Amino acid sequence: MPIIKSLVVAVLAAGTAILFYAKLRADGEVSTLWILALTLGAGLLAMVIARMIALGRAWQVLIAIASPAMVLVPIYQPPTWIFPIIFLGLAGFYINGVREQVPLYLSNRKTKKVLVDLIPPETNVTFIDLGCGLGDIVTSVARARPQARVIGVETAPLSFLVAWVRAKFFTSVNAEIRFQSIWDTDVSNADMVYAFLSPAPMIRLNEKLRNEMKPGSRFISNSFAVPGAEPDEIVAVDDTRETQLLIWRL
Ligand SMILES: C[S@@+](CC[C@H](N)C(=O)[O-])C[C@H]1O[C@@H](n2cnc3c(N)ncnc32)[C@H](O)[C@@H]1O
Repeated sequence: MPIIKSLVVAVLAAGTAILFYAKLRADGEVSTLWILALTLGAGLLAMVIARMIALGRAWQVLIAIASPAMVLVPIYQPPTWIFPIIFLGLAGFYINGVREQVPLYLSNRKTKKVLVDLIPPETNVTFIDLGCGLGDIVTSVARARPQARVIGVETAPLSFLVAWVRAKFFTSVNAEIRFQSIWDTDVSNADMVYAFLSPAPMIRLNEKLRNEMKPGSRFISNSFAVPGAEPDEIVAVDDTRETQLLIWRL
């Protein structure tokens, strides 16, 4: 469970910094410079541990924010209104962890490359990323395959916003991000559907795709199997988490 691991890492890093702070405090007033160093140190320590235990990039970002915050809060005791704001900010990215049992984590660089290689160049394929997170896959595929039409759908509000801005202002016109649920997305015209979700929605998703996708199209699931439905092909990615792309041909 990456959420538990992340919490343990953040508490460990922040706890270490707070112990140092308490030690310094016992000897007298602690300067702002020291507090800054301890705060950055907590963030750095958390990132190093997160990398060592191979936590995903989104969790690393979360930890890098959470650990310094956990150091600063007991030291400065900020006004209480700041906590609902932080909560809303996190919910804006991670709400689907609660709603759909699908939190935010991102496909890594090597997976993106392998995925792009599965898309024939110079063809007008329609590619859909169901639950596109921060839009990494959409922007990478759209850039690498300029003739493809690349669509991402996302319902976590802040993830959607980041993905939409990236697609709109930093990618060419063949990328489109929609604030839309996976379950309301029309996949009948898609040649390739990609999903990196969790075990929870896979049976329902498989039923939807089998009913709606056209013959000859492909469904690619990053890591998560569909119980009772053997994939037609498995592509191994040469990365540390031993990613597998499971491919079904409709
Ligand atoms: C594990 S992330 C994958 C992000 C991206 N596809 C990637 O591979 O880098 C899954 C994303 O699916 C989104 N998601 C979960 N359920 C969804 C739903 N019903 N409709 C739209 N997005 C959903 C989550 O908010 C999360 O951002």
